[in-house]
Amino acid sequence: MSRLSQRPADPVVGESHAHESAAGHVTGTALYTDDLVNGHPGILHAYPVQSPHAHARILDLQVDAAYDIPGVVRVLTSADVPGVNDAGTKHDEPLFPDTDGGEVMFVGHAMCWVLGETLEAARLGAAAVEVDYEELPAVLSLTDAILQESFHGAQPTMLRGDAASALAAAATDPGQYTMSGTFEFSGQEHFYLETQASIAQIDEAGQVFIQCSTQHPSETQDIVSHVLGVPAHEVTVQSLRMGGGFGGKEMQPHGYAAVAAIGATLTGRPVRVRLTRTQDMTMTGKRHGFHSTWSVGFTDEGVLTALDVTLTADGGWSLDLSEPVLARAMCHVDNAYRIPDIAVHGRIARCHRTSQTAFRGFGGPQGMIVIEDILGRIAQTLDIPAREIRRRNFYCPGDRTPYDMPVRHPERLDAAWSQVIDHAAVERREAEIARFNATHPDRRRALAMTPVKFGISFNLTAFNQGGALVLVYKDGSVLINHGGTEMGQGLHTKMLQVAATTLGVPLSTVRLAPTRTDKVPNTSATAASSGSDLNGGAVKDACEQIIDRLRVVAASRLGVPPADVRFSRGLVTALGTDGSLTWEDLVGTAYMQRVQLSASGFYRTEGLHWDASVMQGEPFKYFAYGVAAAEVEVSRFDGSYELRRVDIVHDVGDSLSPLIDLGQIEGGFVQGAGWLTLEDLRWDDGNHDGDRGSGRLTTAGASTYKIPSLSELPPEFHVELLDKAHEEGAVYGSKAVGEPPFMLAFSVREALRQAVAAFASGDGHAVVDLPSPATPEAVYWAVERVRSTAPVGS
Ligand code: MTE
Ligand code: HPA
Ligand code: CA
Repeated sequence: MSRLSQRPADPVVGESHAHESAAGHVTGTALYTDDLVNGHPGILHAYPVQSPHAHARILDLQVDAAYDIPGVVRVLTSADVPGVNDAGTKHDEPLFPDTDGGEVMFVGHAMCWVLGETLEAARLGAAAVEVDYEELPAVLSLTDAILQESFHGAQPTMLRGDAASALAAAATDPGQYTMSGTFEFSGQEHFYLETQASIAQIDEAGQVFIQCSTQHPSETQDIVSHVLGVPAHEVTVQSLRMGGGFGGKEMQPHGYAAVAAIGATLTGRPVRVRLTRTQDMTMTGKRHGFHSTWSVGFTDEGVLTALDVTLTADGGWSLDLSEPVLARAMCHVDNAYRIPDIAVHGRIARCHRTSQTAFRGFGGPQGMIVIEDILGRIAQTLDIPAREIRRRNFYCPGDRTPYDMPVRHPERLDAAWSQVIDHAAVERREAEIARFNATHPDRRRALAMTPVKFGISFNLTAFNQGGALVLVYKDGSVLINHGGTEMGQGLHTKMLQVAATTLGVPLSTVRLAPTRTDKVPNTSATAASSGSDLNGGAVKDACEQIIDRLRVVAASRLGVPPADVRFSRGLVTALGTDGSLTWEDLVGTAYMQRVQLSASGFYRTEGLHWDASVMQGEPFKYFAYGVAAAEVEVSRFDGSYELRRVDIVHDVGDSLSPLIDLGQIEGGFVQGAGWLTLEDLRWDDGNHDGDRGSGRLTTAGASTYKIPSLSELPPEFHVELLDKAHEEGAVYGSKAVGEPPFMLAFSVREALRQAVAAFASGDGHAVVDLPSPATPEAVYWAVERVRSTAPVGS
């Protein structure tokens, strides 16, 4: 077993501990970026001027009237940018559209910001700014973008075998079928509780200090330094904690931090940017909605033989992270299934909408929904239980993905699948459901099981690195810094457990300092679920360096070889002797001997390679697996439904912190169910009733955009961690957990499909077209279609 994955006796990792800020969260004492405003006397408040047009040229922008408003201090426009006017990493995202001939690219696009003594003064100032526009043609929907061939970025293709020939052969082979379809599905608003927030201040030495709700402090630092035209060492970014990020704070915070930084530089006063909910929803990117066209070949047993699929992502107005999102979508159209001949084509639509961005799963859900939709249809076409069809197509040992990566440990998926069938009493409940459906005229139940196989690591190999700084003070207390950010997912709790385990001290001996770019440089985003893998590896490395030094000191005091010294829970012992030392005693001795008590740690994921030009390689360190079973009940009168029960078995390797992992699995699942059933993002895209459409997001607040709440939780919700799942070569044998459970929610969508089909008349069966999100309204119409069409095979 590798040193990275091996656990010592009696480790602190693996114990269930409350989130390190749990008490602060529930008592309200945990601070978030905008709570820090009170610590900044004289702070200025920023308010944006937002475009009413989806696409327009700015002919003239008059700010004078804003200065007539009492309390308005400064208006920031493109003319104020000292460095590069760009808030992205692709150089296609001006921070401020040029006030003279620049373009606004979506409804809500901010073109200038007003700074005021109060937020109200800034708001009134923004309302007083006068803009002359020349309206320009706009692309308002994914469909329009495809029709007009409005794309940006690369258009990659992933190939294995010869999908076209295999599909042609399937079409003529009497033992095979082909099927084709088009499926467009919706994006998702992050709806983190804390909207985007930044505070910038300049210290006496001209150093720019930014407190920002960001998942990627180093990139926020980079963008701010480019915008200000200063080197990175003049900018420090701190991310105390976030009230949720979910990917929405991976790229999106940079521009707001830069606005605050310019304001602070120009006025010499601290500047606060905090978006209202509606500003956040109208200005920031969302999960990419996708359009897909597909052709599939399969045998009469339901075994997949070929797939040709084109995935088109709604990239919005600028590229942002759309290319890697698309790449991950393409790497996940297979989900857990072997598809011998396959061609996957990807494109990114350029439309006049917010620039869509990272969101939990990062394209994975958008790839997987396509194959799960297809398998649901195949099952209904062949009238074979969907559970059986899915199982028949699982990867087997020795198989490789379409991008030529070996699928290691597929037997874990089999184990999780069997465990769910067993623990959730699936067979007994399926029989009960059949009885229920036979006796209830207007209600149908169904149970569906779906698997998840999700690749862990950033597709971009360079991002798979982490750093840490561990300080042991001479009284034995320990302070750790690492490059990851806390957004509620419990990363900090896990890092405390990793440090306590590696140093062999109690959890209470270790404290964690806020994430800052002046402690750990060049960090990657806390994203791709890899926060614990990367930062855990780095924290462990730093602690091991310190332990290796302390081991020598302890060996001489205990009179044993260094290899025989053991560290556990604050006690230092030696094999074969009764002698022992306390941790504090040992640290004190080491200090007197001038032994270094701090270390910076580093970790890089080994063995990764990826050729983006042909979409082949081993982009992932490992796959995370999971299985869910969901039971629903649908009413035919209004399409309303209940999620009656959910059972999950999920693979987190050897859990670092089981309570945290269970919370992540539950939360991820519920957020996925929200995307698939509830959260209905609507744009006025002109595709309804023949009007032109304004491009406005019509669901721009909590009143029109519904996210799951307690009432949508299933009354029975069982989550188990897969046993015997040690992951060799990962920190203490653990696996990432942040994103994979999101995709377990396909079980809910597929259960709805099956329940709808059960409304078919007679003995026939139906193939159900289910839009996504499958809102009650969508389910109602699906039921109506099933009831009014002659069933297949009747
Ligand atoms: N959990 C909470 N409570 N809040 C969040 O914002 N973000 C998710 C997931 N779990 C999130 C969360 C996303 S999108 C990712 S990528 C991971 O946490 C990031 O953290 P990790 O890498 O430490 O798991
Ligand atoms: N998730 C998955 N992969 C990624 C992400 C993410 O948030 N960011 C970059 N690659
Ligand atoms: Ca985008």
